[in-house]
Amino acid sequence: MEPILTLTDLEPLARERLDPDWYEYYASGAATETTLRENVEAFRRVRLRQRVLCGIERVDTSTTILGHPVDHPIVTAPLAYQAFAHGDGEAGMARGAASLGGAICLSTFSNKTPAEVAAAAPDALRFLQVYTFRDRAITDTLIAQAVELGYRAVFLTADLAVPGPRDRERRIHWTFPEDSMPAVRFALDHGADAEGLDIVDPALDWDYLAHLVETAGVPVVLKGVLDAEDARLAVEHGVAGVVVSNHGGRQLDNVPSTIEALPAIVEAVDGRAEVFLDSGIRRGADVFAALALGAQAVLAGRLPLWGLAIGGAEGVTAAIALLRDELATTMHLTGCADVAAVGPERLLG
Ligand code: FNR
Repeated sequence: MEPILTLTDLEPLARERLDPDWYEYYASGAATETTLRENVEAFRRVRLRQRVLCGIERVDTSTTILGHPVDHPIVTAPLAYQAFAHGDGEAGMARGAASLGGAICLSTFSNKTPAEVAAAAPDALRFLQVYTFRDRAITDTLIAQAVELGYRAVFLTADLAVPGPRDRERRIHWTFPEDSMPAVRFALDHGADAEGLDIVDPALDWDYLAHLVETAGVPVVLKGVLDAEDARLAVEHGVAGVVVSNHGGRQLDNVPSTIEALPAIVEAVDGRAEVFLDSGIRRGADVFAALALGAQAVLAGRLPLWGLAIGGAEGVTAAIALLRDELATTMHLTGCADVAAVGPERLLG
């Protein structure tokens, strides 16, 4: 693999290697892509408070996620169909993340099975993202299998009740590659009767979240929260965390960027659960801003995916290392020796 020198090189280098239709699938957002752009641009408006003569020799990026120690607060987000970016797929993603002591979240729509990913990164902190099938008992079975394999939490994605309107997907006539996904294959083999994404239950409600919290056997995190009232309800239904996310700008267009939505959600959660953020993380300063406004950790989606496309596990390692090192530099130059020191007073305005 040729060296990846900067974070901004990742997407163009990946694009050169990817099948053009798959690049469109991975890169695109919903409708006018206003939220897709705004996720990134809102981070560019954040202003940091530089501090000098802080006497820091070396910063410490380690932290905990749901009580588990990690070497840095960057989790690889659940992204579907990673084998179309690189043959190693989610196994390569997990190996890359594990090499830096980070955590991964595996999509229901993965091309590799939870067992294959566990075997690729046996010591990594692993979470399972859940899209609930209309036949909810099938999802219960898939969760039980993953828990047995050492997945430590379930991230229930709540913002894909129906798929967002993605113009660029329509132009390439993108179709749901159902045979490539072991979980979907399992569902179809066990009586699920649906075409394409219609296999996902569009009518999940708070009672279902309560069911999951009661039965999963591991902590449950609700992913796709943008509204403070939903965050409050999630906490009342027993979640261990919420992910402030707009699905990387792929679902409801014209919603706020996640860094704008974060403060009200942190206030509503009020320390009763962990708050995570994703969508638009492109630089170490973005991770820093999220932590400063109260996130415990961030999930990065497209950045590590571009790394995977460029060089498999090695590319993932390179992408996350650049992001982590930039976070460390930002911490050093703002006078934060460890992540506990990263608070709202580190930002201006
Ligand atoms: C996603 N996302 C996603 N989320 C999820 O819960 N399950 C999934 O299977 C997928 N699949 C998926 C595919 C692709 C190509 C993208 C870009 C995104 C959303 C993902 O977990 C995360 O919320 C965003 O990717 C974060 O935004 P950035 O970091 O890509 O800007």
